[in-house]
Amino acid sequence: MSDHAPVLRSELDLTLLHRGKVRDVYEIDGETLLMVASDRISAFDVVLPQPIPFKGEVLTLVTAWWLEQLEGQGVGHHLIAVDPDVIIDRHPDLAASRAIWQRRSMLVRRTDPVLVECVVRGFITGSAWKEYRQSGTLAGEPLPEGLQESQRLDPPIFSPATKAQEGEHDENITFSQVVELLGAELAGRLRDLSRQIYEYGRDVAGRHDIILADTKFEFGHLPSGELLLIDEVLTPDSSRFWPKETYAVGRGQPSLDKQPIRDWLDGLDGWDKTPPAPDLPPEVVNAASERYQDVFRRLTGVALSAYVPPRFGTNR
Ligand SMILES: Nc1ncnc2c1ncn2[C@@H]1O[C@H](COP(=O)(O)OP(=O)(O)OP(=O)(O)O)[C@@H](O)[C@H]1O
Ligand SMILES: [Mg+2]
Repeated sequence: MSDHAPVLRSELDLTLLHRGKVRDVYEIDGETLLMVASDRISAFDVVLPQPIPFKGEVLTLVTAWWLEQLEGQGVGHHLIAVDPDVIIDRHPDLAASRAIWQRRSMLVRRTDPVLVECVVRGFITGSAWKEYRQSGTLAGEPLPEGLQESQRLDPPIFSPATKAQEGEHDENITFSQVVELLGAELAGRLRDLSRQIYEYGRDVAGRHDIILADTKFEFGHLPSGELLLIDEVLTPDSSRFWPKETYAVGRGQPSLDKQPIRDWLDGLDGWDKTPPAPDLPPEVVNAASERYQDVFRRLTGVALSAYVPPRFGTNR
């Protein structure tokens, strides 16, 4: 297999714990997981039949790029290693399957995930805009009158959601519901940490002419009780990235990554947005692949193929 063959489904010789819409999560041992980002893409919560070349690599390496910086900001996170050589040093058995998982996989500390999706919104769009238009609130809290679609929110707003079971959609909940679920202390920490990381990300992305409209974080506990940032972080799949040059308030914005696919699907007659999804033509697949690679270059300033991942793990 060539090093860059797209991966729709990984089949590694390890215990598979979870196959999500995008990631295949394997158990390495009681304390460690290997999270393999496939090239699967979903739209309207349905996985599409064709893989998008380089998408998994973009998701994993964007996460590593952010976590290196967030570590400098004192944010505790789950990433042990992303450099394939470091991963193989620690787990030599993975050498044989390297072509399948390299650059798309993270070796991470296994946690007990907190079952709340920590969404932060710094621009009002999507389901938040819908809620505001209907009731003048966001996540159940009143917002000032007269906001326009896509307007910047200062301070950004924590708008949590429950983690949906397979096949279901996430459901927005209020901060008081998070307090009921998790207790006031943890709820407050999740809100404060999520806002802090989002604001850092919004500033950094803004310097690269990307508007980070909103994002979703996940957190998990180590057996010691320590709370870590887990999962993917500030990626195009977990966030809305808008190009600064086309931004204007008062309307929806094109997205930097999935737009070719959304446009094509919207132009189709007769797909009711439930599985199975229609086949994507090659030009749509290629356009989406280029978009993901462009987002990487724009954000990091480096071409994906030239990016050398940080050597997390050398001191762990
Ligand atoms: N360090 C970690 N410890 C334990 N679980 C983790 C860790 N990091 C991420 N996870 C979990 O791994 C899974 C990643 O898989 P993925 O995102 O593809 O699927 P999903 O979030 O369950 O479903 P969806 O398809 O809706 O995204 C998530 O369930 C996430 O909570
Ligand atoms: Mg997920």
